[in-house]
Amino acid sequence: MKTNQFGKKGWTPDRIGNLKGKTFVITGTTSGTGFEASKILLSKGAKVVMLNRNAKKSIHTISALKQELGDTIDVTAIQMDLSEQASVKQAAEIVNKSISRIDALICNAAIAQVPERKLTNDGWESQMGVNYYGHFTLQALLFPLIEKSKGRIVTVGSMGYNMGIKTIKFNDLDWDNDYTPNNAYSQSKLAQIMSIYELQNRLEKAGNTNVKAYACHPGASRTSLIKTSGSLLMRFMFFVMKPLTQSAERGAYPQLMCATEENLNQKEFYGPTGRSNWVGPVGPHKIEPHAKDEVVSKKLWDLSEIETGVKWNF
Ligand SMILES: NC(=O)c1ccc[n+]([C@@H]2O[C@H](COP(=O)([O-])OP(=O)(O)OC[C@H]3O[C@@H](n4cnc5c(N)ncnc54)[C@H](OP(=O)(O)O)[C@@H]3O)[C@@H](O)[C@H]2O)c1
Repeated sequence: MKTNQFGKKGWTPDRIGNLKGKTFVITGTTSGTGFEASKILLSKGAKVVMLNRNAKKSIHTISALKQELGDTIDVTAIQMDLSEQASVKQAAEIVNKSISRIDALICNAAIAQVPERKLTNDGWESQMGVNYYGHFTLQALLFPLIEKSKGRIVTVGSMGYNMGIKTIKFNDLDWDNDYTPNNAYSQSKLAQIMSIYELQNRLEKAGNTNVKAYACHPGASRTSLIKTSGSLLMRFMFFVMKPLTQSAERGAYPQLMCATEENLNQKEFYGPTGRSNWVGPVGPHKIEPHAKDEVVSKKLWDLSEIETGVKWNF
């Protein structure tokens, strides 16, 4: 067990100081951990730019946040559907034109446990397309502004990285064969986490210390994740497991910590440190070696640049 530098209670948002003048861009804030993270950042005086697929839900989200925190909060929404590369590119262009800094980009949005194999318009398996390729392109396109701001990239992964096949299925990335909701979701979350550690390697090689990159996960939190995309059976299983889970607010702590806390070790994996890493004090915890397999992560990155047609500019 690793020692937690934040003590017995782990990291909590009372460590966040005044965020006036700081800008956070976050995907998927209409519910769950993204909503809670936005609320806490705004309550500390930050500017928050939300990237959501559903414009109507964004309006409701902003009004819910204003109701709780007051009309003076600095929050805006830009429409972006991670399942469509064209939409991601358009949203990134708007972000780049409309704000002058990004202190942290938080890649939070996701779909999970999609019962049937589906492809995105760009031709990728849906979870890989939304969770991984959507965020890959977004990060690449916002990278110059993040770099200029000496900012961070935070990826919200999942303990699912350690389920499924525990590697990347290069010979069948879109699950033409043997699709299962859990294996495909797990691969997309593993890909997200691996690309953060690969990004660290590439930054290191380029001698670029302007950008920091962190991988974290929310444990098992009561959010809309399974309700939105999971099967009836999966929803029932999550309902039964409810007593073992934590609030969406607590699920937001790891991403908030990675977006704001000084002196974190980028090589770590951050999340709840209690039972099965589902709940408990937030801090660094063990990550299995397959998530840091550099042969696989390098191959995945190179392939992702070809698949998306987007090249990172280090
Ligand atoms: N909850 C858990 O126990 C758990 C466990 C492990 C990892 N996670 C991770 O935690 C993160 C947050 O999930 P959550 O649990 O808070 O789930 P959630 O309540 O379902 O929130 C997911 C957010 O992602 C958005 N989203 C989905 N598809 C999108 C798309 N194509 N383009 C843009 N936004 C999209 C959703 O928007 P809509 O409102 O339009 O659907 C929603 O705002 C995810 O990365 C998830 O993998 C959660």
